[in-house]
Amino acid sequence: MKVIVTGGAGFIGSHVVDALCRARCDVLVIDDFSTGRRENLAPAVAGHPELRVVEADIRSPEAAAVVEEFAPEVLVHFAAQMSVKVSMRDPRLDASVNVLGLLNLLEAARRSGCRKVVFASSGGTVYGAPGPDAAPRDETDPRVPQSFYGLTKSVSVDYLRLYREQYGTEYAALALGNVYGPRQDPYGEAGVVAIFAGRMLGGLPCVVNGDGLTTRDFVHVDDVVRAVTAALRTGHGLINIGTGTPTSVLDVHAAVALAVGSDDRPEFGPALTGEVRHVSLRVDRAGRELGWRARVGLDEGVATVVDWMRDARSRGLGAVA
Ligand SMILES: NC(=O)c1ccc[n+]([C@@H]2O[C@H](COP(=O)([O-])OP(=O)(O)OC[C@H]3O[C@@H](n4cnc5c(N)ncnc54)[C@H](O)[C@@H]3O)[C@@H](O)[C@H]2O)c1
Repeated sequence: MKVIVTGGAGFIGSHVVDALCRARCDVLVIDDFSTGRRENLAPAVAGHPELRVVEADIRSPEAAAVVEEFAPEVLVHFAAQMSVKVSMRDPRLDASVNVLGLLNLLEAARRSGCRKVVFASSGGTVYGAPGPDAAPRDETDPRVPQSFYGLTKSVSVDYLRLYREQYGTEYAALALGNVYGPRQDPYGEAGVVAIFAGRMLGGLPCVVNGDGLTTRDFVHVDDVVRAVTAALRTGHGLINIGTGTPTSVLDVHAAVALAVGSDDRPEFGPALTGEVRHVSLRVDRAGRELGWRARVGLDEGVATVVDWMRDARSRGLGAVA
C-alpha cells in the first residue's frame, strides 16, 4: 500500500512510519522538521532505504505537488501546530497550519485519487470542558472546544466529513487521548510522562501543578500506532482512541518513580488556570470500527519511556532532559 505520513518525523508519526515500513508499505514522509527530528526517522531510514523523506511545509505548493505525484492510497495526516499555548497566542498561525495545511493536502489528495485520510484529531480538546458529572466523552457529544487548537482539530473533522460527501474521500479522524511513549519531547506541553521521567533520571524534583488529581486518558504510542494501521483499511468518522480509564497526574508520577527507582516526592505548584479537571474518553466505537482496544498498561508503558530515555542519555542525545 502507498501511504504518505505527514509529521512523520514527529513523536507519534515516526512510530507510525516504523510500523508501516515493517508492514512493507511504500511510505513517503512529509515534514518540515519544525518540531520533528531526523533521529526519530533514523531507524526507519537505516532499515528501509526506499523510504522517501521530503522536507516541506504542508501549506506549500511543493507539499501538494508531492502528494499528487506520489498518489498515495492513504494519507496519514499527523503534521500539526500542536501547542495549545501557541494556538491561544497566535490563532492565525494555528489555523494556517492546521486548517489551510489540511486543505492544501486534501485538495491534492482528491486530485490524485487518494482513497482515505487518517487524521490525528484530539480527544482532549475537541469536546471542551465536561459537565459537572465529568462523564466520559462520546464521539456523538457536542464539540465545543475551549482552545483555538481544539477548534482547528474539530473543524478539521468537519472538513473531512464534507470532503467525503463531496468527493468520496474516506476518512477516520482519531481523537487521541494523551499519547505517551519513547521519542516524546520532554519539554513539550502534553508529555507529563516524559517530563517526569526526564527530571527523575536527571535527579531533579518534579513539580505537579495543583493537587495532582487532575485526570487524563493516557494512551501508549504503540496502541495509537495499532489504531492507525487498523484505520488504513477500516473505520469511519470520528473515533476516540484512549484507554477509557482516567489516570491522575499523581498516578503518572508514581508509575515513573517505580520505573526509575526514584523516591522523588513531587513539589506542588499552583494549578494551571483554565485547565480542564477531568478528561476521559469512551472508546466503544474504536472497538466496533477498528476492532481496537488499548493493550499497554500504565506501568508497562511508562517503563518503555524510561528505558528509551536512559538509552538516549547514555548516547548523549541532547533532546532528553
Ligand atoms: N501527543 C499527543 O498527546 C497528541 C494528542 C492528540 C493529538 N495529537 C496530534 O497528533 C499529531 C502528532 O503529534 P505529536 O505529539 O507526534 O507531535 P510532534 O510535534 O512530535 O509531531 C508533529 C510533526 O509535524 C511536523 N510539522 C509541524 N508543522 C508542520 C508543517 N507546517 N509542515 C510540515 N510538517 C509540520 C513537525 O515537524 C513534527 O514532526 C498532531 O497532529 C497532534 O495534534 C497528539
